[in-house]
Amino acid sequence: MTLSQFEIQDINQTVLLWLDEVRKRTLIAMQQHLDISIKHDARDLVTNVDRDNEQFLNAKIRSYDSEASIVSEEGFGDHQKNMQGNVWFVDPIDGTMNFVKEQADFAVMIALYIDNEPVLGWILDVVNNVVYHGGPQVGVFANQLRLEQPNNDALSDGIVLLSGARLLYGMFGYDKIAKAALGYRVIGAAGPSFLRVISGRAVGYSSKMMPWDFAAGQVLAKTLGLSISDIDGRPLDMLSSNIVLVATNRAHRDILMLHQS
Ligand code: IPD
Ligand code: CA
Ligand code: CA
Repeated sequence: MTLSQFEIQDINQTVLLWLDEVRKRTLIAMQQHLDISIKHDARDLVTNVDRDNEQFLNAKIRSYDSEASIVSEEGFGDHQKNMQGNVWFVDPIDGTMNFVKEQADFAVMIALYIDNEPVLGWILDVVNNVVYHGGPQVGVFANQLRLEQPNNDALSDGIVLLSGARLLYGMFGYDKIAKAALGYRVIGAAGPSFLRVISGRAVGYSSKMMPWDFAAGQVLAKTLGLSISDIDGRPLDMLSSNIVLVATNRAHRDILMLHQS
């Protein structure tokens, strides 16, 4: 189902207002005591802000869209089994480790897919007060500034962003990919890494991610003509974890070849 421009703009403006509120709440919470707990291991953290943001956003989504299904990280979403209808993705704080330890390089992310088609994505850079937003029907914007497709640079001409843990253990060919690139970085958060690729500061990014980690980034990357797939070149499964690769078309080809070699 294709939405009208009016409907797209209404959804976009509504979500931008929610994100403005979320940003203010997050900045206030950062000045106060954070309640931090460990999820699976000491590197997998959750805070009161992750939970509060998710409850706030999921409540907004449900009151705005009575047909919404929500896939979100901290347990306030639905147990979604398919991609039919209006499926919203929420990552209430992406990069919780960065949020807790650096107060930088973290994001809040939302995406809307309808019948498995990407419709709109939003990545809020809380600290710098920039929302990257858009979709195939409207283009991609950083606040009000329209973004163009990044240069189609090869891997050897740019910086590649990789998951630190997998790079450390030489998984998925990440060691070969890092060596072949002009430079490599570990940012430690999916949203801020996607933003670097979307705005042309990095030629590619790969990590193991859950759907809420890549749903918004995928909408924006596809809209800008970037390549996104799993590390074997297959389309991403929106309801399970994937080894995601987003890159310029040339770097994407370079990385797939290195991974397969
Ligand atoms: C994590 C970060 C990290 C990525 C993990 C994600 P979270 O998100 O984006 O960079 O490697 O896969 O889970 O848990 O901080 O929202
Ligand atoms: Ca998160
Ligand atoms: Ca995340």
